[in-house]
Amino acid sequence: MRETVRSTLVLPAMFALSCVVACGDVEPPLAQDTISAGRLDEADLEQGRRLIAEKGCVACHVVPQVRSPVSTVGPPLNNIRTRAYLSGLLPNTPANLVQWLLNPPAINPRTAMPNVGLSQAQAEDIAAFLMSLP
Ligand code: HEC
Repeated sequence: MRETVRSTLVLPAMFALSCVVACGDVEPPLAQDTISAGRLDEADLEQGRRLIAEKGCVACHVVPQVRSPVSTVGPPLNNIRTRAYLSGLLPNTPANLVQWLLNPPAINPRTAMPNVGLSQAQAEDIAAFLMSLP
């Protein structure tokens, strides 16, 4: 009888404790990243800036340091580094930004941003440039 009473108290207590530990461990949404900072550090910012003009990004986006007519089809890309989410759903990390640039509809099938056919290296250069903007 005594054993039973003890376990009915101990088990919920242990459960509550494990919940506290687990809840304290929840991963912040921006922590995931598979491209090491080092890899984007080696990306070519100037090339990224040039590619934004060449690949037609400015047909839809206003981008600092890239001359173009003003387009408001997509959001201005001036403060990418400070955004929590890309397309409102993908946590904004350098790796996720590269994934987004490589194939936006694969991440958000309803997005208006097309896949413009970037190579991995081109996407990394553009991502590094965008992340470097204030
Ligand atoms: C046909 C228009 C179009 C073109 C071309 C285009 N984009 Fe976009 N882009 C959009 C739209 C619209 C959004 C918003 C998408 C969404 O929220 O789903 C977007 C979103 C983005 C985002 C995420 C911004 C955010 O805050 O969610 C980035 C970064 C981006 N574009 C960069 C680029 C780059 C770099 C290029 C060129 C390689 C490019 N885009 C070409 C229309 C375009």
